[in-house]
Amino acid sequence: MKATAVAPSNIAFIKYWGKKVEKLRIPSNGSVSVNLSNLLTTTTVEFSPKLKKDIIFYNKKIVGEGRTHKRVIAHLNRIRNLAKINYKAKTITQTNFPDSVGLASSASGYAALTVAASNAAGLKLSEKDLTILARVASGSACRSIPDGFVEWLEGNSHESSYALSIFPPDYWKLTIVVVVVGREKKQVSSTQGHRVVKESPFFKSRLKNIKKKITDVKKFIKEKNFAKFGHLVEREALELHALTLTSNPPIIYWQPETVRLMNLIQIWKQEGLEIYFSIDAGPNLFLFSKENDTNDLLKKLRDNKFNDFILNKPASGARLIKNDLS
Ligand code: PMV
Repeated sequence: MKATAVAPSNIAFIKYWGKKVEKLRIPSNGSVSVNLSNLLTTTTVEFSPKLKKDIIFYNKKIVGEGRTHKRVIAHLNRIRNLAKINYKAKTITQTNFPDSVGLASSASGYAALTVAASNAAGLKLSEKDLTILARVASGSACRSIPDGFVEWLEGNSHESSYALSIFPPDYWKLTIVVVVVGREKKQVSSTQGHRVVKESPFFKSRLKNIKKKITDVKKFIKEKNFAKFGHLVEREALELHALTLTSNPPIIYWQPETVRLMNLIQIWKQEGLEIYFSIDAGPNLFLFSKENDTNDLLKKLRDNKFNDFILNKPASGARLIKNDLS
């Protein structure tokens, strides 16, 4: 009873921030994202009658008791309940990018865990059901399961809040450059951020406008209208941070280098380089450019001492692979 899955991280164009139902991770609003080809988590899960307790390895280290341990075991328990098994599991996880710095490591991690563990347990779930299961472990993980450009429908119940592919990965040849400006672990988790946002005075007005934003972003992707798409995505990222800054208590995810790069991007735009940014709950930036402009963008980054970056294109979602980790 063993299976291995690989899953990408994803960056949201329209963000998930705030929950309607805390425990089930039903979001306050829908969201739209794209999977990233080079931020990947691979997970092998084996259920075995020989194991006396669950063992979790993360990047070659055993995960001791604590928040992550509890969260992974809770997810294994959901899957054991569905499959009606009670074997303990060994999970081995390997990522190719830093975790807890706003690069959606939990999205790719829990998507990989969901696909690997449910297959190892013998469940045959549809893609939709996999997204529902992953969502309960980590909201944005549901968007790392379908391919390419993905929408997470807000829904109003466990069954109606799920993710689906809206365009395949090769629909639009964008480059997404993840610029890592800080590798320190963030102080405030997104779980906490979702809780405290309700006290931001801007939260209600955000929710009033969000449906139109979702319709617009899908239209701009469909039309491949890069200028309108980029402008909307950038404003949405800034709105997320307007919310975190005005939450109670406030959360400041940016570092000085975050702001330096945001300002440079405005200058580069005026110089004729068409790029836009997004930022998640962390200091790092996700830059969108057309394929033809990628080299110019990378040169500008290097010239300004931003040397820690990861190049991505739109990617497939979570999938099973044959090579098990050991
Ligand atoms: O799934 P979580 O709880 O890690 O929340 C993700 C929140 C953001 O990354 C900031 C936005 C999003 O939609 O991915």
